[in-house]
Amino acid sequence: MCGIVGYVGFRPAADLIIRGLRRLEYRGYDSAGLAVLNGDGLVVTKASGKLSSLEKKLGPTLPQGTVGLGHTRWATHGAPTTTNAHPHTDQTGRIAVIHNGIIENAGALRTALEQRNHTFESETDTEVLAHLIGELYQGDLELAVAAALREVDGAYGIAVISADEPDCLVAARKGSPLIVGVGDGEWFVASDASALLEHTRSVVYLDDGEMVVLSRDGYRVRSLDVMEISKKIDRIEWDLATIERGGFEHFMLKEIFDQPTSLSNTLSGHLLEDEGTARLEGLNLTNDELKQIDRIIITACGTSWHAALIGEYMIEELARVPVEVEYASEFRYRNPVVDQRTLVIGISQSGETADTLAALVEAKNRGARTIGVVNVVGSTIAREVDGGTYLHAGPEVGVASTKAFTSQLGALALFALRLARLKNLSILQGRQFVEALKALPGQIEEILGRVDEIESLAERFLDTSNALYLGRGVNFPVALEGALKLKEISYIHAEGYPAAEMKHGPIALIDENMPVVFIAPRDAVHSKIVSNIEEVKARGGKVVAFVNDGDHEIERLADATFTIPETLDLLTPILTTIPLQLVAYYVAVRRGCDVDQPRNLAKSVTVE
Ligand code: F6R
Repeated sequence: MCGIVGYVGFRPAADLIIRGLRRLEYRGYDSAGLAVLNGDGLVVTKASGKLSSLEKKLGPTLPQGTVGLGHTRWATHGAPTTTNAHPHTDQTGRIAVIHNGIIENAGALRTALEQRNHTFESETDTEVLAHLIGELYQGDLELAVAAALREVDGAYGIAVISADEPDCLVAARKGSPLIVGVGDGEWFVASDASALLEHTRSVVYLDDGEMVVLSRDGYRVRSLDVMEISKKIDRIEWDLATIERGGFEHFMLKEIFDQPTSLSNTLSGHLLEDEGTARLEGLNLTNDELKQIDRIIITACGTSWHAALIGEYMIEELARVPVEVEYASEFRYRNPVVDQRTLVIGISQSGETADTLAALVEAKNRGARTIGVVNVVGSTIAREVDGGTYLHAGPEVGVASTKAFTSQLGALALFALRLARLKNLSILQGRQFVEALKALPGQIEEILGRVDEIESLAERFLDTSNALYLGRGVNFPVALEGALKLKEISYIHAEGYPAAEMKHGPIALIDENMPVVFIAPRDAVHSKIVSNIEEVKARGGKVVAFVNDGDHEIERLADATFTIPETLDLLTPILTTIPLQLVAYYVAVRRGCDVDQPRNLAKSVTVE
């Protein structure tokens, strides 16, 4: 989704900003732009398409100046054209604004400004904001920004510069992340820490309703009422090497191969082998409080929602506490029934997904305890919830979520174990679960060692336009996730279904051209899924099955199989997911798709 980078310091701003924007490319965007204060005024350059188009337009000599801002835009209001790209300027052309988020009352503000003789070039809400700031400007940019934002409804992360204040940059946030980078004699602002890491690890996370003013003397944080706010400086622990491709052709492939390590990191320090349980101090819930929980709601979007569905199986099976899983976008508007005994868990890799954040805020306002299962340290969701656990999976750059998913499952398994041991799970069963969890990273390694087999399985999907993914029990959500991975990066239409549901409709699609993927480890519903495979074969479907070693029954029926190491039934999704990620990856690569930045998609969805 949109990216913001701003700079005030002593080095050439344009180069630093473009480098920062490059680090944000993974978030997905469709146009880019840059504004630099060069002493005489503002130099604004914009281009539709990728950053390379902007660089081409800028030519070999970048605009001079040590204060500037840049943006990558993911279109919401208006097509991804050069005119609609940010920065946008005010009526005088002396103030430039970049903006992430959506100004909800932009239509009304635009009409009012037009009545006061403002004319607009673009269709964007951001240009409206720029004009509003310009109209309110009376020689103090900070005051003008604060006054304009007090008139605005909606979500924003913005950065603003003015040709009349050549040493200053003002930024503000409400519902869209912004981080200040504190360097030595230079200051940055960005929507994502990866844009700053090359220069500093000292950061200040802005909260909603806060504004920062960067100048050559330092930075100060204020409220929109221009009251001073004191903020602590945090330190980012991960480094640039972690977000680089490390010899892999794509981030997605690197992140799939990261999984033995990322899952180990998620589990590390939490497993108590002798006691057969997990330690999760970050939950901020005492044993008594945990025991009193009589209902759990898990809310999330996309892949994280699939993890939630698997979490439902884990928690209900182990801890016998009822769990409901809700799409965050639905939960937030459905007048949900929650109270003090309801625990609401929000799952989010980025920690910035607008719907998940809003769902958690809604739950909190209604008295529920909230916890977050989040990857990005210091993200908005992580700071909003009452407690939680970090995944420590490392930065996930590929737009398609892979390692965050398996780490989410690892974290949910820890939570289910912890709760179950407080309720009724025996120490022996607890120890067995801990043992199985510990074995998973090595088992993932074993699957990754047979990547060639998976690459050749992918051949079976190259010429198809549809695919069906079927699973049962805890592997039904894996079917959903496998289908999502395939469709989002290879643009092949794929559907996930509970295998038995197939005969209630989707069976009509099956013919000799339709690959049907079965996720069929030897678990409690194995015999049932064998019958479902028979039903597909009887109609000429092409079956690709993911099974345990020695499953001759399915090997005999299926057109192709891939074997997965054995683990406890509830943990099979962590293993069955890996080859499905790889199938999607190889199909997309062979079809020439942009694997890391699939069309229309954004990494972190900060608009609803
Ligand atoms: C799919 C994918 C998305 C995200 C979803 C939620 O591969 O990455 O479906 O899972 O946008 O994002 P987070 O987990 O950041 O809240």
